[in-house]
Amino acid sequence: HVQLSTRTKMFCGCELSFGKEPNVHTCPICLGHPGTLPVPNASAVRQALEMPGLEVVGLHVHLGSPLFELEPYREAVDVLLAFAAEMGKKHGLKLDELSPGGGFAVQYMEGQAPPAIGEYAEAIVSGLTEGCRKHGLPLPRLIIEPGRAIVARAGVALYTVGASKEVPGVRRFVSVDGGIADNIRPPLYESQYSALVASKALETRRERVTIAGRYCESGDILMRDADLAPLDAGDSHAFFCTHSNEVRLKLCEGSEDVEEYFSHWISRIVYAGTKD
Ligand SMILES: Cc1ncc(COP(=O)(O)O)c(C=O)c1O
Ligand SMILES: [Zn+2]
Repeated sequence: HVQLSTRTKMFCGCELSFGKEPNVHTCPICLGHPGTLPVPNASAVRQALEMPGLEVVGLHVHLGSPLFELEPYREAVDVLLAFAAEMGKKHGLKLDELSPGGGFAVQYMEGQAPPAIGEYAEAIVSGLTEGCRKHGLPLPRLIIEPGRAIVARAGVALYTVGASKEVPGVRRFVSVDGGIADNIRPPLYESQYSALVASKALETRRERVTIAGRYCESGDILMRDADLAPLDAGDSHAFFCTHSNEVRLKLCEGSEDVEEYFSHWISRIVYAGTKD
């Protein structure tokens, strides 16, 4: 992190001054509103280029993660190349590296269809080659940031079901032996996962339950109003796609049991990591 000595912020025209009340110099761009278009600060790039001991090797943008659409990558590459061409002419920037950011989307829920890696590659590389031709630039070294897409599907978290509590007219809570400390995403911003009662994988009956964590915080909810096979104490509750967020993999003793539990999922899961 650096403190800029520019008049405006790095990606928008908001005044850059210190000592004012919080949230005074803000606009839709720096508040991250959808549809806004950040533009890098030319003065910051010029100053970096002029600074002895600092080598500007390229440009990077972070679009947000995970991104299910491809068009933003094409647009971002074009914006970066147009800016690189302008900075090249004005200040001698040589674009050796370019990164259109990440991360690639993963399928958390059934029905979600993230692009294949090849489709991301096609969008980014075709955007890069066309853009370099259009802006008269040599091809830079391409950096990609797939992020969680590399590992998310390599793991499944298994929780053991504990006590349950019916709040009449509200919902049925079922507690498991994990929660906010090992899977922070659902409590933090209600992210959703595919899940299965692993010990009743072939059960077709469904019961609406809310899966609560063990950490005694009111926000420690892993799934809200999920339709799952009826849960009893001791059941195994499986969360898919959890390898990316510090979930300790709670694999059963011996992977053969796990394969049996997940007979209809196993072809899509590669087990990784160590026990607990
Ligand atoms: C600069 C940058 N690149 C890539 C990613 C993608 O990583 P992930 O998909 O694991 O969030 C992030 C995370 O938001 C990021 O900040
Ligand atoms: Zn702003």
